[in-house]
Amino acid sequence: GRPETFYDAVGGHETFAAIVHRFYQQVAEDPVLRPLYPEEDLGPAEQRLLMFLEQYWGGPQTYSHQRGHPRLRMRHGPFPIGPLERDAWLRCMRVAVDEADLPEERRRQMWDYFEMAATSMMNKSW
Ligand code: HEM
Repeated sequence: GRPETFYDAVGGHETFAAIVHRFYQQVAEDPVLRPLYPEEDLGPAEQRLLMFLEQYWGGPQTYSHQRGHPRLRMRHGPFPIGPLERDAWLRCMRVAVDEADLPEERRRQMWDYFEMAATSMMNKSW
């Protein structure tokens, strides 16, 4: 059959939903990040990040069906993201990933990706 995806290997939907939920709990409390989110309700943003990550790691392609091509850098254009915002985002995600208790090699793979992705989302240098 098909080789197991990263998504399946780490526990599929349940694992990704837990990580993204924990991440947004942190965002809700974060003085740097919270003001960037245009909507009062973080639920829809949580759903979009969940769909995106599930798709990226080999799970259901629901993100693209609902939102089209990710174009994440473009979609982040309206939000000023410098080192402070990048670091805050990673700090929130670090808690979420660590609590997911993934096998070390998987944890490292996911973390390397988040560091790279968050840095690539920066659109200002201060
Ligand atoms: C959307 C902030 C990094 C994935 C958003 C939104 C904000 C935001 C304010 C709009 C919320 C909404 O969807 O209603 C940030 C900040 C980052 C960051 C400050 C710091 C570097 C990332 C990274 C990823 C990501 C690293 C992926 C690994 C997404 C996705 C959406 C989103 C998938 C929804 C896009 C859509 O409209 O379909 N982000 N983000 N973001 N972000 Fe980020």
